[in-house]
Amino acid sequence: MCGIVGYIGNKHAVPILLEGLHRLEYRGYDSAGIAVIERGELCRVRMPGKVNSLVAQLAERPFESTIGMGHTRWATHGKPSEANAHPHANGDETIMVVHNGIIENYQTLREQLSARGYRFSSETDTEVVAHLIEDEYTGDLTQAVKRALRKVTGTYGLVVMHAQHPREMVAARRGSPMVLGVGDHEMLLASDVAAFLRLTDRVVYLEDDDIVTLRADEYVIDTLADKHVEREAERIEWQADEVELNGFRHYMLKEIHEQPDTITNALRGRLIASEGIAHLGGLDKVLNHLKEAQHLVIVSCGTSYYAGLYARYVFERLTDLVVEVEIASEMRYRKTNIRPGTVVLGISQSGETADTIAAMHEASRKGALLLGLVNVVGSTMSRITEAGVYNHGGPEIGVASTKIFTSQCAILVMIALLLGRFKHLAVTDGMEIVAGLERLPTHISTVLKQADAIRSIAASYAQYDNFLFLGRKYNYPMALEGALKLKEISYIHAEGCAAGEMKHGFIAMIDQRFPTVCLATKDMTYDKVLSNMQEIKSRGGKMIAIATEGDEEIAEVADDIIYTPPNLDFLQPIPAVVALQLFAYYCAIERDCDIDQPRNLAKSVTVE
Ligand code: M6R
Repeated sequence: MCGIVGYIGNKHAVPILLEGLHRLEYRGYDSAGIAVIERGELCRVRMPGKVNSLVAQLAERPFESTIGMGHTRWATHGKPSEANAHPHANGDETIMVVHNGIIENYQTLREQLSARGYRFSSETDTEVVAHLIEDEYTGDLTQAVKRALRKVTGTYGLVVMHAQHPREMVAARRGSPMVLGVGDHEMLLASDVAAFLRLTDRVVYLEDDDIVTLRADEYVIDTLADKHVEREAERIEWQADEVELNGFRHYMLKEIHEQPDTITNALRGRLIASEGIAHLGGLDKVLNHLKEAQHLVIVSCGTSYYAGLYARYVFERLTDLVVEVEIASEMRYRKTNIRPGTVVLGISQSGETADTIAAMHEASRKGALLLGLVNVVGSTMSRITEAGVYNHGGPEIGVASTKIFTSQCAILVMIALLLGRFKHLAVTDGMEIVAGLERLPTHISTVLKQADAIRSIAASYAQYDNFLFLGRKYNYPMALEGALKLKEISYIHAEGCAAGEMKHGFIAMIDQRFPTVCLATKDMTYDKVLSNMQEIKSRGGKMIAIATEGDEEIAEVADDIIYTPPNLDFLQPIPAVVALQLFAYYCAIERDCDIDQPRNLAKSVTVE
């Protein structure tokens, strides 16, 4: 969603800000803007539309400045327009603010400020912050920001600049990510490290209620409650080239192809083959609790929710836990069974999804132990959980999640293996699972080698406007995920369906114009899935099957087949879903869609 970048140092700020904004484009946005201080004056350029329009405008008016901030806005309060784009200013434009999050009491504040003569020029909640700071300003910018924020309820990651303070900028965080990059005689700020990874890998993660004052050579952290905080910079493991396309046409394609590596990274150092067990360091401190636990609730959204659905089958197979999987945004409306001792596992690529975070806070109030499976180190979810596991998957830039989904699935199998081995799961079974997990990178490579064939299949199906995705048991969540991928990036209507449910309604849609993608890898449900495929065939429906190598029977019903290597039944769906990712990608290519920035979608959904 919205993105923030800030710079103060010894270089020209504008190119750094624009590059930062380009790096944040993947998050989704509908307007963009920057502000710099040039010869004692705050100057801003902002507009609806893409960062490239901003680049074009700035080419005509190159500012000379070594301090500035930029923003990409995803509209919440007020339509995308120049007036609503950030940065927002006070009346005489001496104070400017960029903000992510929502100021919940902005109406009240706006009325109070209006009554005292402040004039508003936008429909946004953010603008009140600029006026509030002016109202509190007596010469010290940091103190004015603090006093203003004490009056604010809601969430924010924000950066403030003042024309009379050309050598400092102030940033604050509550509930919306903000990270500080420490360079050589320069400091950077961003809502996402991808914005400045090329300039520095030394970062300080701001925590809720932190207020940081930046100068080119120092950062000073205080809290809203006036407490000084000492926090050293840490090195992040992501490399600058991980946010480059590296020759791929889209980030999504690059990330699909990275999966042998992301799975290897997810498994690295975490499997003990001789004992048939996993060791996940991030869970060590809660291991005793986990050994005793009886009830696991998994909570997540979108693709991460489907990883949770997959995990339920695996946990039920390998452990004796009672497992529930909840859509985060629905959980609060249910009288859930969460009580002291319940383990609640939040799954999130970004670690910033507002719905998941809200559901976890709710679970924590009921006494649950909070765990996280998160890709982004230092993200909000990694901070609110007691313990957890990182994907170590590197930045995922494509809005459609791919490499982190398969990584989540592999890690969830490891967690189930770990817990299962404390109970009834035999060492020999554990050893087989370890071996099966270790085969995954090669099996995914086998699917990736079929990319050209999958492309031709996609080319012959991309003109259809509707698809059904079928799967049973472990393959059912993969069917849902395959349908979501197709919808997200090609805008083709697709439905995922538990194969057994087909004849309870879905089959009514099937005809020559309504193809089906069937996940039919070899497991105990195979014969039943084959029968479902027969039912589709007899109604004239075209079919693509994802099947296990060596399965010749499937050719009698399917029109097109993509083969994946044999493995343990619950591990085969992981390479199988890679075939679905490629299929969705190539359908979107055929339809000439904006794959990395699909319409209306944001990478990180930070509003509920
Ligand atoms: O960052 P998260 O994993 O919490 O994100 C959850 C969903 O917003 C995300 O998976 C979304 O569905 C993606 N667009 C899927 O490709």
